[in-house]
Amino acid sequence: MTTQTSSASEKPVDMIIFGGGGDLSARKLLPALYMAHLHCNLPAETRIIAIGRKDWSRDDFLAFMDQQSKPFVDKKALDPEAWDKFLALFDYVRINIDSADDFRRLAETSRPNALRVFYLATAPDLFTTICDNLTNAGLVDEHSRVVLEKPLGHDLASAQAINASVGAHFKEQQIYRIDHYLGKETVQNLMVLRFGNAIFGPLWQAPYIKSVQITVAETVGVGSRAGFYDQTGALRDMVQNHLLQLLCIVAMEPPVSLDPDAVRDEKLKVLRSLRPMSVADIARDTVRGQYAAGAIGGEPVKGYLEEANVPAESRAETFVALRAHINNWRWANVPFFLRTGKRLQKRQSEIVIDFADLPFSIIPSGPRNYGNRLIIQLQPEESIQLQMLAKEPGSGMHMLPVNLNLDLQQAFTERRAEAYERLLIDVIRGRLTHFMRRDELEAAWAWVEPILNGWKELNDRPRSYTSGTFGPAASSALMARENMAWAEEA
Ligand code: BG6
Repeated sequence: MTTQTSSASEKPVDMIIFGGGGDLSARKLLPALYMAHLHCNLPAETRIIAIGRKDWSRDDFLAFMDQQSKPFVDKKALDPEAWDKFLALFDYVRINIDSADDFRRLAETSRPNALRVFYLATAPDLFTTICDNLTNAGLVDEHSRVVLEKPLGHDLASAQAINASVGAHFKEQQIYRIDHYLGKETVQNLMVLRFGNAIFGPLWQAPYIKSVQITVAETVGVGSRAGFYDQTGALRDMVQNHLLQLLCIVAMEPPVSLDPDAVRDEKLKVLRSLRPMSVADIARDTVRGQYAAGAIGGEPVKGYLEEANVPAESRAETFVALRAHINNWRWANVPFFLRTGKRLQKRQSEIVIDFADLPFSIIPSGPRNYGNRLIIQLQPEESIQLQMLAKEPGSGMHMLPVNLNLDLQQAFTERRAEAYERLLIDVIRGRLTHFMRRDELEAAWAWVEPILNGWKELNDRPRSYTSGTFGPAASSALMARENMAWAEEA
């Protein structure tokens, strides 16, 4: 069992962010830490040490925060006095990661009695050197924690190599592998929906469930990230982590508790039960797409190949749809349709549970072969809808589909912490449940890697789709083949 190191949480915290002057830090981590500070969720004596390559003074770094990070803080939460108090928590240390001397300077800056949280928001090929140098400078002890930002590898071997090199310095219960989807309120609520409500229990399996759809649709394009994205593609960027984690939460057996390992053991079983795909399966059950020019919300947008720094012949996929199967008793023969893409019609992440058709209808008028549908909207809407049949008012018995609709934003009006804020607080408090374990990460890669290889072997280009649609027509065909349809087409 993984134990929570609660005694360590009384120590003052030094949060040490490698890549402190980078994009992720500016847009996500620093605003999240500000919100945690504003709501008194950081331990009293917290200090934040930003690490970067630039030869900046502390004041230069604070100016960077004002310019690059403050704009990402929710305007309503921006209080000048609180922001100044927040800035007072910071130090900046310039580090050349190959220099042992620079790490010694870090050791002089960090308090000897502090619980050190190292956040590695850098390219993963720097992780080994950083960890080696941290150990050599005496900065790692049994209370230290390390947070690893994705991408955690580009295939199974590289993920194993990262795990091995970080594992040489930190025990597994000191390692927090971030998948920010696990920090989202609505994703955590999925566990409550499934395991806090008895009514779904008996129905949550074959043959009562006919299929499951998981969609994470984005309207944004590749933006300024082409250098990274073109080497990565949607399968690695989104499916290997976020979508498979969602699939795990939908499909896992009830864990014995919410202890980190109890939950992660069950997720691991799901990942290990994913049916491996042969090249023939890949040709039939996966669709790769790449966005072409089109319009989003009435505004014209460029195609992927016209974006800055994208190679002319790029085959990077910006869209994936696929049909997965879980080889176990609960899910035998229930297809899981996964879909994600950039430059799609609208930003929408949702899970759709299609229940089995009515076995027989005694009511002659109304839809035949009707199956109830549970739609769980994760973002931007936060709602749970159950589609069912009701009698249309009037004479005669005529049935029409209607929705039972739980709007979670209306039901709970409290502030929602952003995913990064929640996860950073979890790290500080030593709560590992919403982070990926080593074997989970590797099992996800073990399933995804053959798809990447299969695509190489098939050697075809991703299908072009117009920006502002829901992807290539082949994605609809993937479901239509089985008389099914994506939620927006049903
Ligand atoms: C990141 C991906 O992990 O998730 C990005 O690298 C993607 O490409 C982002 O845009 C989506 O996150 P969210 O929270 O906006 O749904």
